[in-house]
Amino acid sequence: MTLNSWTEVAAEADLFEGAGFNVKPEGRDIALFKLEDGVFAIDNLCTHGNAQLCDGFMEGSHVECPFHQALFDVRDGSVQCGPATEPVKSWPVKVEGGKVYLDLTL
Ligand code: FES
Repeated sequence: MTLNSWTEVAAEADLFEGAGFNVKPEGRDIALFKLEDGVFAIDNLCTHGNAQLCDGFMEGSHVECPFHQALFDVRDGSVQCGPATEPVKSWPVKVEGGKVYLDLTL
C-alpha cells in the first residue's frame, strides 16, 4: 500500500450510528456505516437487485436491504441472510483528523 492510496470521502461528523451514508469517490458507489467501534464501507448496490444499501435499516453491524430484506454485515460485506447470495465488496477505511478516507486501490 502506498502512502497516497487513501482518498478523502466524508467528514466523520456526517456519519451517524444507525444510518448509512452514500459517497461516490472516483465514480464508485459506496455506503459508509458508523458503528460503536469504527466506520465501515461496502459497495452501496445490493448484489440481489437495484437497491441502495445506504437506505437500509441497521441492526447492530448488519444492514437490511430495503427491497427484499437481505442482510449484509457492514464489517466485511458478507451475506447474513438471503435472498442475496453474493457478498458486497468491502473497502478499507481510515478515520483521521475528523475525516474519513477509503483505500480505493484494493
Ligand atoms: Fe436487495 Fe433484493 S435487491 S435483497
